[in-house]
Amino acid sequence: MGEGNTSSRSSKWSLKGMTALVTGGSKGIGYDIVEQLAELGATIHTCARNEAQLNECLHQWATKGYKVTGSVCDMTSRAQRQELITKVSSEFNGKLNILVNNVGTNIQKQTLDFTEEDFSFLINTNLESAFHISQLAHPLLKASDSASIVFISSIGGVASLNVGTIYSAAKGAINQLTKNLACEWAKDNIRTNCVAPGPIRTPLAEPFLQDEKLLNGFITRTPLGRIGEPEEVSSLVAFLCLPAASFITGQIICIDGGLTVNCLLIQ
Ligand SMILES: NC(=O)c1ccc[n+]([C@@H]2O[C@H](COP(=O)([O-])OP(=O)(O)OC[C@H]3O[C@@H](n4cnc5c(N)ncnc54)[C@H](OP(=O)(O)O)[C@@H]3O)[C@@H](O)[C@H]2O)c1
Repeated sequence: MGEGNTSSRSSKWSLKGMTALVTGGSKGIGYDIVEQLAELGATIHTCARNEAQLNECLHQWATKGYKVTGSVCDMTSRAQRQELITKVSSEFNGKLNILVNNVGTNIQKQTLDFTEEDFSFLINTNLESAFHISQLAHPLLKASDSASIVFISSIGGVASLNVGTIYSAAKGAINQLTKNLACEWAKDNIRTNCVAPGPIRTPLAEPFLQDEKLLNGFITRTPLGRIGEPEEVSSLVAFLCLPAASFITGQIICIDGGLTVNCLLIQ
């Protein structure tokens, strides 16, 4: 193999020169996505609601030499989403290569116990915010000539789990949105994929991790016999953003130790 081939092959595994917006980067999976993309050479803008935690993260990343900026933004606010994109556009000269729609949260109740407010909050946080920020980011993504959106849904949007019906319905909608945008925006050189995690060790999952019965129920049904770590999700997200993944679009990839493909595990 010639030297030219080697260098073009290694550039497929780099995000050098690329810009990214990662929503919800101050904790959990989002935090690790920021680190992973930064390590591959991307320049990143992230957001969260808690300013002190966000500033602490920005400080840590600056110490590590990562190129990361951040904004305080509540992604459930339409006006704040607009402000966020205005900021990203001015920071990145109107061009964005990567949008990772990571923000999401859950309220775990039985269906009959959910209130109207629960419904609005969960649909807004998990679905509407990602839909609207994708609309707003579209001109920036298109202008970059080679762009990638990654949604973070959940295996709750793929199979029936006892994690709450509103969260699951919103995540199922994200899975479908992934397929539609992949087709609609392919002409604009925007690939769209989705990562659907099973249980991952993050602050959001903390109450679940404390519930021994529930946790063991998941672990015994998971072929790999454990829950996942944030860095196992972020490496898949990063892969989907790389030029190496240039022919992959419209896919929903479960990252769950095999839980969703297991019908009957006999050990
Ligand atoms: N952990 C799991 O087991 C698991 C499984 C399947 C899917 N997921 C999905 O993975 C994604 C990340 O989950 P995670 O477990 O890493 O959650 P997490 O530990 O709660 O972290 C969420 C991040 O998003 C930010 N955030 C939350 N709501 C926000 C809002 N309205 N506006 C702006 N930022 C907001 C949080 O910061 P602030 O609180 O400061 O805003 C934080 O940085 C979510 O979409 C979740 O549904 C997680």
